[in-house]
Amino acid sequence: MTERTLKIVVNGVTGRMGLNQHLVNSILAIRRDGGLELGDGTRLLPEPILVGRSADKLKAIAAQHGVAQWTTDLDAALADPSVEIYCDAGSTLQRAGNIEKALKAGKHVYCEKPISADTATALKLARLAREKGLKSGVVQDKLWAPGIRKLRYLRDTGFFGRVLTVRISGTYWVFEGDLVKPQRPSWNYRKEDGGSMILDMMPHYHYMLDLFAPAKRMVCLGATHVPQRWDEQGKPYACTADDAAYAIVELEGGIVAPIDTSWCIRAYSDDIINMKVDGTDGSAVAGLTKCSIQRREATPRGHWSLDVAKPVDFFGSWQEMPEPEPYRNAFRAEWELFLRHVCENAPFAWDLLAGAKGVQFAELAEASWRESRWVEIPDLGA
Ligand SMILES: NC(=O)c1ccc[n+]([C@@H]2O[C@H](COP(=O)([O-])OP(=O)(O)OC[C@H]3O[C@@H](n4cnc5c(N)ncnc54)[C@H](O)[C@@H]3O)[C@@H](O)[C@H]2O)c1
Repeated sequence: MTERTLKIVVNGVTGRMGLNQHLVNSILAIRRDGGLELGDGTRLLPEPILVGRSADKLKAIAAQHGVAQWTTDLDAALADPSVEIYCDAGSTLQRAGNIEKALKAGKHVYCEKPISADTATALKLARLAREKGLKSGVVQDKLWAPGIRKLRYLRDTGFFGRVLTVRISGTYWVFEGDLVKPQRPSWNYRKEDGGSMILDMMPHYHYMLDLFAPAKRMVCLGATHVPQRWDEQGKPYACTADDAAYAIVELEGGIVAPIDTSWCIRAYSDDIINMKVDGTDGSAVAGLTKCSIQRREATPRGHWSLDVAKPVDFFGSWQEMPEPEPYRNAFRAEWELFLRHVCENAPFAWDLLAGAKGVQFAELAEASWRESRWVEIPDLGA
């Protein structure tokens, strides 16, 4: 059996996403399973080179996970001709500059969303990759989450009939940090450091809505509900970024898509993000894992009564969809597709241009909020 090693510079590996999802759950998981089998039987072994700012942290991560190479010098890592892919899971504001460097060094790029903080920069990166004939991939992990996959399957079977509405709502309470340690990094709440609910989550919601139809126009209201939080050192800081957003999006074909997303809500649902699709023939509600359906024929007659506490058991008339196959990590699933794209030219739709569309969606949501108006969403093409 032939083996092929593929070197990947992984930047931002001391962060949550870089370490857990990209290094451990994807790259090292593929290695642990003996590599990825390509079409010609070759086993592809991705080999990470860890990059970050803190030598001590990198050394510790490398030792813990048995990774041979690490460096604090990104430029030197990118200058290594044996490196084929640059992976960026670092902080949002550093990303575009580092991607540009990597593309100019002739590396394929795989990165987190958002790919930049503004559409013009995002499009510049997408064009640069194309001009240089380099491959690119942007994380759109929710597409491989089991709940959303089930929605896709229902869409493909024609289950919904004519889709009327697609609702997205999430997320959960993020602790302020005074009494309980916060579960998200403090930069998320500082605009000047790349924080913002809109910039963070709208790129995800864009590709989730796109499963049903392209977004045409939207109106959005952002909010900073919690004005002060406490950082990783326990120091109070002012929150300069939005921590919630409420939008209405119109998709092609007149589909209406309300979005409410907040780090200041206490979840009252079985998942942190829920996507509900109502169509003429059926409805479905999916979290990241589960998905329940109700067909037209099984729709209960809704009515209300103040005399009977609960005249209709609405929850009881939904049917949970079975698991068609065992769950594999969503980040790894997309990584494997990208590796096949790089090594054997397999089709891959989630490139820097797709990432730019997510950035545009976020940028326009922000513009709608700041300018108190509906905004049209231009088609950036394919
Ligand atoms: N796909 C998803 O579901 C998902 C979820 C969360 C975050 N993200 C994205 O992943 C990225 C990382 O988020 P995270 O939650 O892992 O953040 P994090 O704060 O845990 O990690 C950020 C990483 O960037 C590095 N970094 C921070 N500031 C830097 C600077 N000024 N210069 C160089 N390096 C710097 C940190 O050392 C760390 O390695 C963000 O762009 C975020 O939008 C994606």
